[in-house]
Amino acid sequence: MSTESHVQTNQRWPQTLVIVGLGLIGGSVALAARRFTGVRQVFGVDVNTEELEVARSLGVIDQGFSSFPDLAHHVDARDVDLIVLAVPVLAMVKVLAQVAQHRGPSTVVTDVGSCKAVLRDAAVDALGSMPPWLVPGHPIAGAERSGVRAAKADLFCQHKVIVTPTAETDPQAVDQVSAFWASMDAEVLSMALERHDQVLAQTSHLPHLLAFSLVDTLARQDERCEIFRYAAGGFRDFTRIAASDPTMWRDIFLANRSATLDALDQFLEGVYRVREAVATGDGDAMMTTFTRAKSARDYFTALLNKTAYQPMNKQDLVFITTPGGRVQGRARVPGDKSISHRSIMLGALANGTTHIQGFLEGEDALATLQTFRDLGVQIEGPNAGRVTVHGVGINGLKAPSKPLYLGNSGTSMRLLAGLLSAQPFDCELTGDTSLSKRPMGRVAEPLRLMGAQLETAEDGRPPLKLKGGTPLKGMHYDLPMASAQVKSCLLLAGLWAEGETSVTEPAPTRDHTERMLQGFGYQVSREGSTVRLQGGGQLEACDIDIPADISSATFFMVAAAITPGSDLVLEHVGVNPTRDGVIHILRLMGADLTLSNETVVGGEPVADIRVRYTPMKGVDIPLDQVPLAIDEFPALFVAAACAQGVTRLRGAEELRVKESDRIQVMAEGLQALGVACTVYEDGIDIVGTSEVTGAVFTQGCVHSHEDHRIAMSFAVAGLRAQGAIKIEDCANVATSFPGFVELATHLGLKLEAKLD
Ligand code: S3P
Repeated sequence: MSTESHVQTNQRWPQTLVIVGLGLIGGSVALAARRFTGVRQVFGVDVNTEELEVARSLGVIDQGFSSFPDLAHHVDARDVDLIVLAVPVLAMVKVLAQVAQHRGPSTVVTDVGSCKAVLRDAAVDALGSMPPWLVPGHPIAGAERSGVRAAKADLFCQHKVIVTPTAETDPQAVDQVSAFWASMDAEVLSMALERHDQVLAQTSHLPHLLAFSLVDTLARQDERCEIFRYAAGGFRDFTRIAASDPTMWRDIFLANRSATLDALDQFLEGVYRVREAVATGDGDAMMTTFTRAKSARDYFTALLNKTAYQPMNKQDLVFITTPGGRVQGRARVPGDKSISHRSIMLGALANGTTHIQGFLEGEDALATLQTFRDLGVQIEGPNAGRVTVHGVGINGLKAPSKPLYLGNSGTSMRLLAGLLSAQPFDCELTGDTSLSKRPMGRVAEPLRLMGAQLETAEDGRPPLKLKGGTPLKGMHYDLPMASAQVKSCLLLAGLWAEGETSVTEPAPTRDHTERMLQGFGYQVSREGSTVRLQGGGQLEACDIDIPADISSATFFMVAAAITPGSDLVLEHVGVNPTRDGVIHILRLMGADLTLSNETVVGGEPVADIRVRYTPMKGVDIPLDQVPLAIDEFPALFVAAACAQGVTRLRGAEELRVKESDRIQVMAEGLQALGVACTVYEDGIDIVGTSEVTGAVFTQGCVHSHEDHRIAMSFAVAGLRAQGAIKIEDCANVATSFPGFVELATHLGLKLEAKLD
């Protein structure tokens, strides 16, 4: 759960500003107020009269006073709109008492201190309670230089400012202070006061303490000159902040003692763990820590540089299509999502090192990868689709320190529910808003029959809470629905269960788990529609070459199939017979689709798929093809709209519990674009066009409901639209198809992604 909230406001304010304490921050507030707000007068208060004079001569303030009573003597308190307290935190009690005595009735007061509980305590000491006019604030900006000479007007631009109002604070005062910071191009956030102190202890106070301490440790050694002469990049980067103002930092550590100690204790535990690894020469333990840290740091850098592929507000990413275009060329779409998940899971549980290539660097598969890092597995990459997993063996996973967040990924949650039910530790699985609505009872119920102890939220929804240390018993289960996720969940739990686990499916579903288990040397047998394995075996590491994802290839197969003049080859696509429904259905509709270079890599069939435009006709989709094309229906609905006659789909109720209700959401989108369709509980009838060429879809706006496949399907519809189509809520395309827009435009779609 987020502990902060964004504050938005547009007031123009203040006219008269007083800064108490003219150091780097106080001086910068004055300069920024002059540059960015409508302020008319800025007064400074500081006991250091030389600093006041410098501030005045540099134009930072209009006039300076050596004490608050002195200011009050010269300036009418009623004229002062805002007082910013920028004195050291330990001087607050005295200053607050003076401010309370001399402020005007509508003067708002804020501060810039790094610790907020100490400000509240100072206010209670000085005034008996938190006054409504005091808005605690903290700009997260600074520099290791101090003093008013170092002040800069743009110090707060693009930086965060945290306000921490209490129950007593006047909301209007909070708005005014927030507007003041926002006008300086700062991002204003609101947070509970205690939480602020904990967060800052970890992210700011602790690093400063460590930098001071490390430099001091080296400085006390006899040969320090020699050491410092050789201290280059790493030392410089790590210790830059040891040049900060010692007085200010002493005060911060005195003020935020308990949160700093908590952060320091946690850090020391980590340091002792690394010490142990170094002392015992445990390279694996080092790599586990270092790879996890590197991936966290890389992610952080991307966030800081705002280069993460997700915009800050996911809802804001839209696709806009422009009519026209055709699809031509050759391309390889990203790696198979289902196989990518499984490669990490089995690689982590194997003995030895697994090398993966073709790994899908989409958010869903990355959520699985991060989860196994959180479970103590050392994983290198991904780097251009290459991942190295240092397996910990079937009993080597470690308890995670926090709930495991699986984002949008239903596959991660369902498969992990089985795998983690069998571990000796407790854990919790959570996800984003879309995943939090998806049914988990379908895995929780059979797992309970095997002896697992797990709880879901209401109605069998996430989060899932798994109780560790419960022995599992193998069992036979008849799947009530054709679901590879449920089948795989039970087979994975079965690896630890006593005896045999067997699953019978009502219709064939993707068999990547079975194939890959065999690739890792685990015996799995199949008899008709029943698959079985014995618990208690071991997995042996192997190399995995992941084919291109047929589900991602589908968007371009359909694009070429519906657009006159198209001729496209998709390379090295996985054509596992439990996934190739889309090929059969498109061919049944009359599509010109041929396979070449057919081969098998790592137990998975692959081929190049060529699609050329030819007019298609509507069909009744054979029931047996439904589970084999389950993820491809949104795109197939677009193909159906462009085919002559009616296409009928039944037996597809599973589509209602995917990332969105894909029957309803696609029907709404198609209707908004002028396509007639009728919705059934388990399917849809789509009335295709009688136009062989030309526009099929009108222009318009559709919503993808956080569903990646809906967004990409309507992007393809743009090829046969009369005008522009705007597709809302497209950020989740990154879950399965990073680089979709770039590849689509490269192949000839007229598509653009932008923030709304
Ligand atoms: C998947 C199985 C399918 C599919 C999903 C991935 C898998 O779900 O829709 O995108 O990797 O096992 P169900 O098994 O629930 O049908």
